[in-house]
Amino acid sequence: MFESETYISRRKKLNQKVSDGIILLPGNTESPMNYADNTYYFRQDSSFLYFFGLDFPKLAGLIDTDSGEEIIFGDDLSLDDVIWMGPQKSLKERAIEVGVSRTYAYKNLQRVLEEAISKGRKIHFLPPYRGENKILLHELLGIPVSKLKDNSSIELIKAVVSLRSVKEAQEIEEIRKACAVGYQMHVSAMKMAKVGVWEQTITGTMEGIASAGGGMISFPIILSQNGETLHNHDHSQILQDGRLLIADAGAEVGSHYASDFTRTIPVGGKFSQMQREIYEIVLAANNCGRELTQPGSTYLSVHLAAAEVMATGLKNLGLMKGNVKEAVASGAHALFMPHGLGHMMGLDVHDMEDLGQIYVGFDDEIRPVNQFGTASLRLGRKLQPGFVITNEPGIYFIPSLIAKWKAEKINADFINFDRLESYLNFGGVRIEDDILVTETGCEILGERIPAIADEVEDTM
Ligand code: GLY
Ligand code: MN
Ligand code: MN
Repeated sequence: MFESETYISRRKKLNQKVSDGIILLPGNTESPMNYADNTYYFRQDSSFLYFFGLDFPKLAGLIDTDSGEEIIFGDDLSLDDVIWMGPQKSLKERAIEVGVSRTYAYKNLQRVLEEAISKGRKIHFLPPYRGENKILLHELLGIPVSKLKDNSSIELIKAVVSLRSVKEAQEIEEIRKACAVGYQMHVSAMKMAKVGVWEQTITGTMEGIASAGGGMISFPIILSQNGETLHNHDHSQILQDGRLLIADAGAEVGSHYASDFTRTIPVGGKFSQMQREIYEIVLAANNCGRELTQPGSTYLSVHLAAAEVMATGLKNLGLMKGNVKEAVASGAHALFMPHGLGHMMGLDVHDMEDLGQIYVGFDDEIRPVNQFGTASLRLGRKLQPGFVITNEPGIYFIPSLIAKWKAEKINADFINFDRLESYLNFGGVRIEDDILVTETGCEILGERIPAIADEVEDTM
């Protein structure tokens, strides 16, 4: 938790950006795994954390934009709770730590909101993503669960996005800590990637390092020799000599700021010639992404420039053909990279994705591109100092996608389908770093995890 002034200042700025009415930010509740008392690791809602700081379940924050009044709703623990959970600070004491002097028992939330609604006041809320909060908002506001998203406040969403997008220095320090844990996770994975090792053993070791770092993983680990499956959570295979292993993982530190890195590791310790050629192209695209990341540039333009680097490399290998700019304009590169170059990162690994990518990654100037591949880009808009983003190009050989494009002659002017036959068992390569947009350019956050092919081999 930061100093109380941080939360006071953030709420003040939020209040100034929302014209009138009541801002309601529910925190998260415990989420049962298999019965009520056996819960998943508690994860607070990130916007609640950002404005109200308190990291425990069943709280709601309210800001009256007209009077400036701020209230935290929650319940103190009963003696029975204390017997099982130990002594805890009172809600009042905790609220003071985030600069809120007024606290009410949770049951009063309904009454306070009913009073405001009866006076015709607008209740601003963010789109809920958890079942418990959908039910809560339905009960509090009388809006059908299926209509909550449509009734969420675009004014509030835009205000929250504008504040959370630009990271404060203290937030960047937390992200650096998460990157330091991520570094340990990935270097350990490289050292463990020996023939005969179970993928799950490496995954579990990485999770343990994240946990030992004070938090948890920032998303379920993606680790597989079938790296062509973009979000592969199957870790059941035994490592085989000569295959590539993709490890995409990051940590969340105790403050919940995230890291998100990908490295591609040659099982056994040496890239083959074929693997190295593809690897070098992805690394060149990663370098291009970083070199072009600067304030004022749009991330859509950076994405497309990295795509051109990949298309050029693939053309040099004989896998693509024709004019590179035309190939990228036509979306031909998306056969190999059907995802975007990167996304915002902060309290969420895909920062604020719950608020709607259209508001987080795009604006009136840069709209989403409705073309396979680039349509998956989560961040297109102009970059500003203080943005923390990922730079994660990849090349994948996805047999079913290749078969479809070949059969339907999709982008046949730009793809040498026959040459792809020998790559169908290749897997994929992705190289992902976390970068901070600075006043003059950008900076890789954390010590760079070995990325040059020789460095990866040396580390192994
Ligand atoms: N969570 C996977 C990624 O964005 O890298
Ligand atoms: Mn990742
Ligand atoms: Mn990522």
